Order: sequence, then structure tokens, then C-alpha cells
Amino acid sequence: MAERDAILAVMVCEVGVKSRNMKGLRWVKALGYILVLRLLSSMAPPMAALSVRSPPPFGHPQSQSLSGYTLCFSSAMAALFNRFSKTCATVTKHNFKISTYARHLSNVPENTVYGGPKPQNPDQRVTLTTLRAKHRKGEGITMVTAYDYPSAVHLDTAGIDIALVGDSASMVVHGHDTTLPITLDEMLMHCRSVARGAKRPLLVGDLAFGTYESSSQQAVDTAVRVLKEGGMDAIKLEGGAPSRISAAKHIVEAGIAVMGHVGLTPQAISVLGGFRPQGKNVLSAVKVVETALALQDAGCFSVVLECVPAPVAAAATSVLKIPTIGIGAGPFCSGQVLVYHDLLGMMQHPHHAKVTPKFCKQFANVGEVIAKALTEYKQEVENHSFPGIVHSPYKINEAEVDGFMKELQKMGFDKAAAAAAEVAENFEAGKKTTDSAN
Ligand code: KIV
Repeated sequence: MAERDAILAVMVCEVGVKSRNMKGLRWVKALGYILVLRLLSSMAPPMAALSVRSPPPFGHPQSQSLSGYTLCFSSAMAALFNRFSKTCATVTKHNFKISTYARHLSNVPENTVYGGPKPQNPDQRVTLTTLRAKHRKGEGITMVTAYDYPSAVHLDTAGIDIALVGDSASMVVHGHDTTLPITLDEMLMHCRSVARGAKRPLLVGDLAFGTYESSSQQAVDTAVRVLKEGGMDAIKLEGGAPSRISAAKHIVEAGIAVMGHVGLTPQAISVLGGFRPQGKNVLSAVKVVETALALQDAGCFSVVLECVPAPVAAAATSVLKIPTIGIGAGPFCSGQVLVYHDLLGMMQHPHHAKVTPKFCKQFANVGEVIAKALTEYKQEVENHSFPGIVHSPYKINEAEVDGFMKELQKMGFDKAAAAAAEVAENFEAGKKTTDSAN
């Protein structure tokens, strides 16, 4: 009986939902609701039996342990929800707004805020075509590094075009002095975290030092892993030696988009003699332009120009057909990139303040905010003012407290029973006052 009613109710609701914009058929929806009410009233006894504690949402693991539900109830509801989920899928396909129903059909937590932004319309994703269009129109391309899920979500939400999982992670996340120590496996972990958080930006992963220099074959193999295991859309590699140009060409031929990187290439500090700007004399400036051109000819879709004088970057940008992305290269590039932690003023450590590059504008002072929050937290825990009533939300009613105390006493824990009683009397009573004031 219950099952039949359930199915009937859903069928009528289906017609009702589909007809929401057709005035003449609104009565069908009303009939659906009446049937649902009838169904629920036929289940009144088991529901009443459970009225002390409301049942967990359907699909929640705990719902299986509730003995008050009869088999009949379960199978009727299973039929109902099975059917209803299909209805929701159909209706969602037609862009009807029924999200409040759909939420309860899933066995994932209702509040999926930590799941981050959901995949969006493929048209809204940044691709090479998007970048080319921006470049053609002279619109600045934005790129920021990201290393984990939260930074990736921030970039996505801010509408940044490219999320670069840079090997600068070695320094700003892992605390090394250079980009050389980070491994491919570590980079892949960063890539995967970023891929989970940034659904809209183009995702570019750096090839780690020591994972692509030996041969073009090694470079292709590493690039393939960055896409397959890291979930990236493209890779970036540093330098412009002939072997590097050849590696870029082979990777592009393997079907992987490549971003070049010239000027100061931090993986080469050993031969550059440290983190030194490049292109400061005729020879070096010409080399920057020539290398960028060679990378373009190898098939790169863009080139990073790091730490070169503005006139050199302007010349390279003018010569190239592909966009240049500057960092410490002045304003005459097709786009700009900054390291996340530098841009946000994330670090407070005096050492970091010393090594933050001169070209980096701090758009915020997040490090100061973090330091202040942590100091306040420490103080409040130490002086017992956190957590107060507002941040202790879980309640236990008086009858349960009494029962609990008796159990504790039976177990010989008289002191614990007294502690529970005192808190119930004072702290929980304070909660009631706060609740009624709100
Ligand atoms: O690793 C990185 O962050 C970079 C940028 C500086 C371009 O390569």
C-alpha cells in the first residue's frame, strides 16, 4: 500500500514539476502534494515512535541502524527516493531549480562547501584559445602560482587566467633556499591539489629540476606524468639551450602544451651565478629575445620572461607572436605572473622579507593577519576564554545529563559526574539564555 502510494505520488509530482510553467496543470502538482501527505500520514506510528530524536537524512549510514523503521517503510521510501532521484536528474537536465530536493538524495554531506567550486560549463574554462583571444585584443593575461587546494580555489574565484604550479613551491612551501630540491612526486602532489581546487583557470605545471634535462624522451615522459597524474593542462620548462628547445618540441609533438621560461631561470642558478637578472647587456639581451623566438618556433604557446629590463621584455613581446608573461620584466608584456605568497605578503619571517623580490608588489599583508589571529587564539586558549558558549554548540538535555551522571556514578566516577553536573547547571544554562536572547 505504502509503496503503491509512494510511486503514485512521485509520478504525479513528476508531471507537476515538469508543468510548473503551465498554469493549467498546477492542479496536478497539488494532487502530488496531497498524495505525499497521505503517504506520510499512513506512516504516522513509526514516525511518532522516533519523535524524540529526528531521523538522520536518508542515505546517511546511521539511518540503517534505526530499528523504528519497518521493512515496509524502508522499501516504500527506497522506491520513492529511487524514483524521485530519477525525476530530479530529468528536471535538472532541463534546468529547473530543484536543488533543495536533490541535496537530500545524495549520500555526500549536505554542506559540500569544502568540495569547492563545481566543474563549470566547458566554455567557461580558460584554454589556449581563450589566451590567444585575450592576447589578440591586448587584454592582460593573469597568472599566479598555486600549490594547494585553498590557493587554487582563491585563484579560481578571483578569475585568474592561469594557475601555475611552480617549482617555487620548493622555496615558499617546503622552505628550501632554491627550487632545485623539489621532486617530481612532490610536484605531482601539488598539481593534484591545485587541480581539485581550480576548475576554471588553465593549469600549468612546472617540470622539476632533474626530471627533463637528460633527453627529450625523459622530458616527454615527465610531461606526460604531469598531465596524467597531476591533472595539469600544460607544462612549463626553463631555459633555451638547444637540448631544451628540442625537449619543448618533442613535448608539443606528444600533444602537450608547453610554456617556455627565459631570462632568470632559477633552476640554472649554478651557471648563472645566483638569482641574477638577465639581459642587462647587449649580448644577454639579444640572447633573451633569440631564446624566446626559438621556444616559439618549437611550438610553445607562451613564454615567461623573468627578471629582465623592461626594454628587453618589450622587444621580446613585440617580436613574438605568442604572449609573454612577465615577472620582474616591467609592464610591456602580454601578461604578468607573481608568486602567491609574495603577492599576498604571506610571510612574516624576517628571512622571507629579505628575499622577497624587489619587483614584487605586496597586494596584501596576509602574514600580519595570520600572525595576529594565531596570537589571539593562543591567548584565548591559555586564559580559557575560547571556546565560549557560542562555540560550544552541541546540546544535551537535562534527562540525558541525569542518566549520564547515574552511569558515571555506577562506574565509580563520582568526580566526573560532579563535573558534568556543574557544567550542565552553569554552562548549559548560559547557553539557554544566549539562545533565547538570539
Ligand atoms: O616556479 C615559479 O613560481 C615560476 C614563476 C616565478 C614564473 O616559475
